[in-house]
Amino acid sequence: MAFLFACKQCLLFLVVLLLHASAAIAAAAALDNSTDLASLLAFKAASTTTSGGGANAASDNIIVANWTSDVPFCTWVGVRCSRQYPPRVVYLNLSSFSLQGTISPHLSNLSFLSSLDLRNNSLSGAIPDTLGRLPRLASLFLYGNLLSGLIPPSIFNNMSSLVSIDLSSNNLSSSLPTQVMLPRIETISVAENLLTGHIPADLARCSTLQEIYLGGNKLTGSVPSLLGNLSELVYLDLGPNQLTGAIPTSIGNLTKLQYLYLAFNHLKGEIPKEMGNLVNLQKLHLHVNGIVGSIPISLCNASKMIVLEVTTNNLTGPVPATLGKSMPFLQRLLMAENALSGGLDFIASLANCRGLNVLEVSYNQFEGVLPDACGNLSMDLQYFYVSKNNIKGSIPARLGNLSSLISLALSYNDLRGTIPMTLWRLKKLQVMYLGFNRLTGSIPSNIGSLMTNLATISIADNKLSGQMPDSVSNISGLQQLDLSVNKLSSSIPLSLWSLPGLIALDLHNNRFEGLLPPQMAKLKAIDYIDIRSNRLSGNISSALGELQKYYTFRSFK
Ligand SMILES: *[C@@H]1O[C@H](CO)[C@@H](O)[C@H](O)[C@H]1NC(C)=O
Ligand SMILES: *[C@@H]1O[C@H](CO)[C@@H](O)[C@H](O)[C@H]1NC(C)=O
Ligand SMILES: *[C@@H]1O[C@H](CO)[C@@H](O)[C@H](O)[C@H]1NC(C)=O
Ligand SMILES: *[C@@H]1O[C@H](CO)[C@@H](O)[C@H](O)[C@H]1NC(C)=O
Ligand SMILES: *[C@@H]1O[C@H](CO)[C@@H](O)[C@H](O)[C@H]1NC(C)=O
Ligand SMILES: *[C@@H]1O[C@H](CO)[C@@H](O)[C@H](O)[C@H]1NC(C)=O
Ligand SMILES: *[C@@H]1O[C@H](CO)[C@@H](O)[C@H](O)[C@H]1NC(C)=O
Ligand SMILES: *[C@@H]1O[C@H](CO)[C@@H](O)[C@H](O)[C@H]1NC(C)=O
Ligand SMILES: *[C@@H]1O[C@H](CO)[C@@H](O)[C@H](O)[C@H]1NC(C)=O
Ligand SMILES: *[C@@H]1O[C@H](CO)[C@@H](O)[C@H](O)[C@H]1NC(C)=O
Ligand SMILES: *[C@@H]1O[C@H](CO)[C@@H](O)[C@H](O)[C@H]1NC(C)=O
Ligand SMILES: *[C@@H]1O[C@H](CO)[C@@H](O)[C@H](O)[C@H]1NC(C)=O
Repeated sequence: MAFLFACKQCLLFLVVLLLHASAAIAAAAALDNSTDLASLLAFKAASTTTSGGGANAASDNIIVANWTSDVPFCTWVGVRCSRQYPPRVVYLNLSSFSLQGTISPHLSNLSFLSSLDLRNNSLSGAIPDTLGRLPRLASLFLYGNLLSGLIPPSIFNNMSSLVSIDLSSNNLSSSLPTQVMLPRIETISVAENLLTGHIPADLARCSTLQEIYLGGNKLTGSVPSLLGNLSELVYLDLGPNQLTGAIPTSIGNLTKLQYLYLAFNHLKGEIPKEMGNLVNLQKLHLHVNGIVGSIPISLCNASKMIVLEVTTNNLTGPVPATLGKSMPFLQRLLMAENALSGGLDFIASLANCRGLNVLEVSYNQFEGVLPDACGNLSMDLQYFYVSKNNIKGSIPARLGNLSSLISLALSYNDLRGTIPMTLWRLKKLQVMYLGFNRLTGSIPSNIGSLMTNLATISIADNKLSGQMPDSVSNISGLQQLDLSVNKLSSSIPLSLWSLPGLIALDLHNNRFEGLLPPQMAKLKAIDYIDIRSNRLSGNISSALGELQKYYTFRSFK
């Protein structure tokens, strides 16, 4: 062959080409190539003019000058021909060619066409239903245009060679064709459109399907149980949509599945225990639905899991104690905003997840203590969120082992005792939420040299005493400081007012004393300040001048 490409589509195209070679040679005797020429010229005419013909008209498009009849069309940019005689167009790739206008229905006269790639242009109007007549088309890529109208039923029901179709990121509307008959199809993507209606159950007849992307539409109805028939499926992306009903148990039959995205729908019912059969699952996204019941213990068997996200559902009950035991590759475990209960014992099993990067269990009903095993979590852990639970006891000193932590949220619990010195030594920490507990003790005087990366710190509503260390002003990137409702005393360090990036400062309800200095006006970035209920004196309006805006200061996560 004259051309060999290291891409799947091209190899497919070669295979299809070879398959049809003998038929092509037979046909060549009867046909000439003038049909192809006429089709290409019709395509050029439609895709390089805009209906308005205004200043934006695409008349200077590269193909206007390049596609000229005085040279063989096989040499035109984006066109490739077969080697039969006469040569016929088999491959048309005008991806990112700034095409405007519409897709000519005459394109369907390119009857030898195997691959059509018009991705990333500004083509508008409807997808011509005549494209469904291209008998040899294996790849149809129209991703990233402005196409509108419905998906022609002929494309889903009449293309026996089609292997891969990508119509995503357009403005396609109406429902998906209900009749689907694509005997060779491997990938269907219609994501990011305006599609409504149900997921056609007929998809289940396409037993060669490996990838389905329907997310970012307005699809309704339920996830068809028949999808469990698609034994080759590797990627299934159905969110965001407006799907209802329960996750079908038949999902558990998709044993090759690696990626399941059902997030941002209105799904109800429980997580089927059959999901534990998905031993190849790497990413499971069920967040923002109305899923109830508990996390099935069978899920612990998904030993290839990398991301497990069930945030914002109505899950209840304890988390299986062995959750992480067989998930060595787990990087992100997100379970916030549910009604999960029981202890945090499962954290010990997560010590096996050596690449764990994010652990979110905030906004649940977990109780008991923060286990010492926290200190055994991955050294790669950057985000640890436990806020808004019923955690008692003290903060384990071993938490300070997690030297990669960027963000730590323990607020709205019932934590007591002092903040361990190990925590103040978390050098990379940018966000520290410890507010609304019963923590005692004081802020170390050298905080400014320990926590140099801190941007947000809230220890509001605790029982901290002592003074605010002068060294706070060395944390040059500090943006939000909330130490309100504590028992901090003495004067506010003068240097605090020279923090250049401070946006929000809440010190209300403490025992700070002294005179408000004129230096306060140096807080150029400040947007929120509350110093009420202290023992401060002086005139706040003269010290602050213009700076008297108040807005809600997000003090916890
Ligand atoms: C394409 O084929 C159709 C039907 O055979 C015909 O009506 C049309 O004129 C052809 N288009 C071109 C550009 O040859
Ligand atoms: C059209 O583009 C092709 C590929 O870039 C180039 O080889 C050819 O010389 C161009 N022809 C004309 C007439 O511009
Ligand atoms: C069409 O085929 C003829 C041979 O039959 C060839 O000479 C000619 O260059 C082809 N036309 C184009 C535009 O490729
Ligand atoms: C079309 O061309 C683009 C840019 O060269 C390339 O990335 C893409 O893979 C091509 N499409 C096909 C189907 O070969
Ligand atoms: C899309 O096409 C434009 C030119 O029209 C190009 O600059 C851009 O890089 C392309 N984007 C992608 C993702 O291919
Ligand atoms: C189905 O495709 C064949 C050619 O492959 C074509 O003749 C026929 O018109 C198409 N039917 C529909 C409904 O598009
Ligand atoms: C796409 O659809 C949206 C919503 O209906 C509409 O606002 C937008 O103008 C459409 N864009 C195009 C290019 O048709
Ligand atoms: C299930 O898949 C088989 C092929 O694996 C196919 O023959 C059958 O029609 C499919 N069943 C349904 C209900 O789609
Ligand atoms: C799933 O597998 C079970 C057991 O093999 C079978 O009974 C059931 O019909 C399958 N469901 C689907 C939808 O294929
Ligand atoms: C969870 O249940 C409560 C009532 O029990 C309901 O108000 C809430 O909307 C549910 N949340 C979701 C995400 O379905
Ligand atoms: C996990 O897998 C093992 C081996 O396949 C099986 O014996 C066990 O029952 C499974 N556990 C659960 C909870 O599904
Ligand atoms: C932490 O890991 C060490 C070494 O693997 C182990 O000895 C210890 O028991 C673990 N601690 C907790 C609290 O799980």
